[in-house]
Amino acid sequence: MKTVLILGSTGSIGKSTLEVLDLHKENFKCIGLSANKNFQALHEQANKYSVKNICIQDGSTSETDIEKNSDIKIYRGSDGQSEMIRDMDADIVVVGIAGAIGLEATHEAIKTGKRVLIANKEPLVMCGEFLLNEAKKYQSEIIPLDSEHSAIFQCLQGSSKDDVNKIILCCSGGPFWDKKIESFEKITVQDALNHPIWKMGEKISIDSSTLMNKSLEIIEASVLFGVDANKIDVVIHPQHIVHSMVEFKDGSILSNLSAPDMKASISYGLGFPKRLESGIERLSFSDLSLNFFEPDHKKFPTLDYAKKALSLGGNLPLILNSFNEVAVDLFLQEKINYLDIFQLISHAFDAKDSLDINIKFDTVDEILHLEALSKKQAKVYAERYTF
Ligand SMILES: NC(=O)c1ccc[n+]([C@@H]2O[C@H](COP(=O)([O-])OP(=O)(O)OC[C@H]3O[C@@H](n4cnc5c(N)ncnc54)[C@H](OP(=O)(O)O)[C@@H]3O)[C@@H](O)[C@H]2O)c1
Repeated sequence: MKTVLILGSTGSIGKSTLEVLDLHKENFKCIGLSANKNFQALHEQANKYSVKNICIQDGSTSETDIEKNSDIKIYRGSDGQSEMIRDMDADIVVVGIAGAIGLEATHEAIKTGKRVLIANKEPLVMCGEFLLNEAKKYQSEIIPLDSEHSAIFQCLQGSSKDDVNKIILCCSGGPFWDKKIESFEKITVQDALNHPIWKMGEKISIDSSTLMNKSLEIIEASVLFGVDANKIDVVIHPQHIVHSMVEFKDGSILSNLSAPDMKASISYGLGFPKRLESGIERLSFSDLSLNFFEPDHKKFPTLDYAKKALSLGGNLPLILNSFNEVAVDLFLQEKINYLDIFQLISHAFDAKDSLDINIKFDTVDEILHLEALSKKQAKVYAERYTF
């Protein structure tokens, strides 16, 4: 029996993980769950799946009668989350937290020296080298859950990195890839949240609409697979059946296909190297029509930001991520317009002169310090756009 801890269990990745685990009760046992502030949903999950440990971030949630009369242990705050990760010492930790806020928990999970399934791409973008070094030090096994990175991970099994000619990241294109740029001015929060394929959390849905998600994924892929960003291409594939591809030096290409459902990569990560039933819909090839298009870099300048940040080097990816998080947050609060997101992110490259982009990180606190300074800068630039 393998024990599993799910961080960010009330979100889209967390819920899908619980669904997969429910298919494998004889081999996997979920022993802990965490969320930010959605205490009721967290408690309901714990009851439904008989989980005895939960952690809520939001310290304002005080003890309720439900808690007093329950045998569920409740941890609180980010220290509580770290404590729960250490106490549980689970065989597998799933990190489904959204955003840079997941860094501390990701690091704590890595320190357990166990298998860590990472959906939370932002920490990998911010300080991938640091996290991979820590994984080596603590001998933890990182397996990506992002469908594209899971696909690449699967395609690379049994192959040498030296034989890789390029990685082709598939991109569903979000809701606006084929819309005229003139229509971008009027895009509302609701339009941008309405992803045609995936039902995801708000942050990643906005990132998918601006294609900033793909930019973050280029950095994530470069970090995880040790491949130069110039060897990573993006192709628009609206059906998102092909999750991504690896072209090898002999010209052959391996890809991973399935119905677009995160349960596919979650079940792969849980069972690796074995395959588990995932519960996803099966494909019928005679009904499929697969299309691929070049992305429009003029409409989506965000696509070029990853390679620019990686070529400038140092901590530019962290700064880029911070500017994006501030921009998405302001857009979700309807304080800036959709097109302002692109403008605000582009200032990450101006801010680099006033931030220490070359500092080498030894601790998570140092990373969080630069992140805080970077977000502060982003908010100063944002004053030009907020209304
Ligand atoms: N959704 C997808 O299909 C998908 C695909 C690929 C990659 N990803 C990546 O996976 C991550 C999660 O995405 P998502 O769509 O599942 O997001 P989501 O639906 O917004 O869920 C985020 C989860 O994290 C929790 N959370 C937030 N801050 C936390 C903290 N400090 N400590 C513990 N839990 C915290 C939230 O709790 P509350 O409910 O209390 O707010 C929620 O459970 C993102 O980095 C995203 O880029 C997602």
